[in-house]
Amino acid sequence: MAKEKILVIGASGQIGVELTLALRKIYGDANVVASDLREENILLKGTGPYVSLDVMNKEMLHVQVIRQNITQIYLLAAILSATGEKNPNLAWSLNMQSLLNVLDIAREEKLSKVYWPSSIAVFGPTSPKQNCPQQTIIEPSTVYGISKYAGEFWCNYFHNRYGVDVRSMRYPGLISYKSEPGGGTTDYAVEIFYKAKQDKKYECFLREDTYLPMMYMNDAIRATIELMEADAKSISVRTSYNLSGMSFSPKEIAAEIKKHIPEFSISYKPDYRQPIADSWPQSIDDSVARKDWGWKEAYDLELMVTDMLQNI
Ligand code: NAD
Ligand code: SER
Repeated sequence: MAKEKILVIGASGQIGVELTLALRKIYGDANVVASDLREENILLKGTGPYVSLDVMNKEMLHVQVIRQNITQIYLLAAILSATGEKNPNLAWSLNMQSLLNVLDIAREEKLSKVYWPSSIAVFGPTSPKQNCPQQTIIEPSTVYGISKYAGEFWCNYFHNRYGVDVRSMRYPGLISYKSEPGGGTTDYAVEIFYKAKQDKKYECFLREDTYLPMMYMNDAIRATIELMEADAKSISVRTSYNLSGMSFSPKEIAAEIKKHIPEFSISYKPDYRQPIADSWPQSIDDSVARKDWGWKEAYDLELMVTDMLQNI
């Protein structure tokens, strides 16, 4: 196997920190270069190389790729659903231009692989609510969802037209304790743990019966690495794979937390994020990912809550 040198863009974010640490374990600390617009996350300090980088500056990105002999890029920089609705132009600009910059450089420099995540946000109010299939009606209603859906087709295009080995999956809402979430509609499922531990109460910005697809970060990191390590011949989806871990509502996660913290109570004050959540499916059919590269989640709601409360 040729020696890989990986650049992670957006490495200080919720996924970036854990993915960078996991990649460093596999490929060696020196072979995974972390980069971000903001400062290096404290958990990354001293674990490997870090460069300050704005992915929108294509020339500087290109220079870094050449200077560091990069062979693979994981692009995680993005503006998520809730923040995106506050600044649609910025979300569209960052989410699209970052991907086009990376895909162009991957083509020019003949990088071996690119990873770029999409989201359940590609689905919209007209998509099936239960077990939403890989291929279905997709009419996103948020700028974030529109940018992810367009991005999926840019990935497909660069693969078909230029042979770029770009791989993608539609993450559900991700739950983790190492690095804070960055402005998504599913962030309540992380906040609730901090509030449960500190204040024994939480005011949720979604209604109690809002079911959404979710996944524990350990599963998301493993899924990402499994997809990237899969034989190219087994990858049949070059837009983005549906991926599923668990589905629950605020009422259900609160009940699970209460098993560990009996005094915990939850109240509900839905805000502008409620219509975003209402536009997404409640559960996802990821049978294509299971068939193509053997995906299987390890964490359900019970296991995830126990692990979060132990580690937070
Ligand atoms: P995040 O907001 O926590 O992290 C994004 C990182 O990108 C931040 O550290 C930010 O500083 C950096 N960044 C922003 N603009 C940049 C720029 N111009 N140049 C370089 N870096 C820049 O996001 P995340 O939750 O880690 O998400 C990573 C990816 O996964 C995104 O594409 C997101 O859409 C996708 N995703 C996340 C979730 C989730 O629940 N977290 C779910 C579905 C998809
Ligand atoms: N967790 C993400 C969000 O809520 C889904 O992509 O924006």
